[in-house]
Amino acid sequence: MEMLAYVNGEFLPESDAKISIFNHGFLYGDGIFEGIRAYSGRIFKLDLHLQRLYNSADAIHLEIPHTRDKMRELILRLCQRNNIEDGYIRPIVSRGAGDLGLDPRRCLEGPTVVIIARPFDLLYGDKYEKGLKLVTTSHRRVPSQCVSPNIKSLNYLNNILAKIEANMRGADEGLMLDLNGFVCEATADNFFIVRNGMVVTPPRVTNLQGITRETVLEIAEEMGLETREEFFSLYDVYGADEAFITGTAAEIGPVVDVDERIIGDGNPGKVTREIMGRFRDLVRTTGTPIQEKRL
Ligand SMILES: Cc1ncc(COP(=O)(O)O)c(C=O)c1O
Repeated sequence: MEMLAYVNGEFLPESDAKISIFNHGFLYGDGIFEGIRAYSGRIFKLDLHLQRLYNSADAIHLEIPHTRDKMRELILRLCQRNNIEDGYIRPIVSRGAGDLGLDPRRCLEGPTVVIIARPFDLLYGDKYEKGLKLVTTSHRRVPSQCVSPNIKSLNYLNNILAKIEANMRGADEGLMLDLNGFVCEATADNFFIVRNGMVVTPPRVTNLQGITRETVLEIAEEMGLETREEFFSLYDVYGADEAFITGTAAEIGPVVDVDERIIGDGNPGKVTREIMGRFRDLVRTTGTPIQEKRL
């Protein structure tokens, strides 16, 4: 069965779901999006994702043409119609169709709302057991003085360039630094180190306030571990006991190699594995049920 997608008021087979070539999301990356997961028929942290979607929209002066409740209902309805159990959901709101100039006032029809919901399982296969290899990329993360990394915008070129470099260098992911040389995040994931039982991640001013990142900080506190949000350098990464990335698609990915330095003993660390286990329990037992309420 072909999956349906939602496009401006209609549920259409994905192959019929189309937007204008003059859409400013396409022409200029002028828009915002979310990446959301469903596990065992429940949507994980749906309301936090919706909150971030609306915060991103506010930050770029974009008015989403639906209330938050309506967006929530559309997401649930699409998941129901696509029979999503374990899936990935992608709401996208762009400035809409305009003309070739970049002035958003020319987008006279108003924003375009698209929602995609497809089955999805593990991103990294056996790497959750073996661990991931990262390289530090030469592309620095765009600083918040230019565009806040907290806006989940359709402009991912900074991250894509870093990802291309990581691919070319045979790594699973690229680690990005800020302009001062402090560690920020991976290309689509937040980054953590574990040092003397302390779980440390960079402050959110230089990276996306990931929902998995927040969840991991909560899990670490429940485990009785000290957590810190502070700047650190590659020196701290190379000498860390453990390291991992976090993201909606990647979940928690143990990191065992950064720039050809082995992290810890070269295997996913004990704290990381405990956090991964607790995270898996949490995603399968909490969240908004997709099928409970027939819409
Ligand atoms: C640049 C960037 N950093 C971090 C993340 C992780 O955020 P989350 O855990 O909310 O998916 C993502 C993915 O959404 C991302 O694109």
